[in-house]
Amino acid sequence: MPLLPTLSTFFIVLSALLVAVGWVFIVKKKFRAHRNTMISAAISALLFFIIYLSRTIIVGNTSFGGPEELKVYYTAFLIFHIILATVGAVFGIITLVLAFKRNIKKHEKIGPVTSIIWFFTAITGVAVYLLLYILYEGGETTSMIKAILGL
Ligand code: HEM
Repeated sequence: MPLLPTLSTFFIVLSALLVAVGWVFIVKKKFRAHRNTMISAAISALLFFIIYLSRTIIVGNTSFGGPEELKVYYTAFLIFHIILATVGAVFGIITLVLAFKRNIKKHEKIGPVTSIIWFFTAITGVAVYLLLYILYEGGETTSMIKAILGL
């Protein structure tokens, strides 16, 4: 198992689980628990992003190592996952800002949308991880720094 991708995938999954727990808390009107769980979910998502970004810059990205005829489907799925993750991150920040500004009406409206986008981000993220590292052997890994410096 590759260390950094496994660690970053763990943090996406943890973040989605915390969002689910935070949702249950607000349904039960446990406001403090909701706040703390959602902040933990945001920190977990941030850890995912930091690990993912540092790996991309220092080690590089790994290409799909599975069968050639599956490559196009893998790429389409990966792009779908990246779009979900980006939209989820933007919605997550907006949801948090609305909460801290006590704009609870809007926060309550956007919160479920953010949560559902984040669940799908985590599910598709795990699928990408399985396709890239577990079901097939990873392809070539090229470092961004190496690519830039032409090493
Ligand atoms: C299922 C979706 C969600 C619903 C229905 C919901 C609803 C609420 C409600 C009603 C409050 C007000 C509690 C109070 O009166 O003190 C609240 C607070 C809060 N929510 Fe959410 N929320 C949801 C999702 C989220 C998400 C995804 C995040 C994080 C990105 C989040 C972060 C917070 C925070 C940090 C507070 C506390 C603000 C503060 O008191 O300083 N919530 N939420």
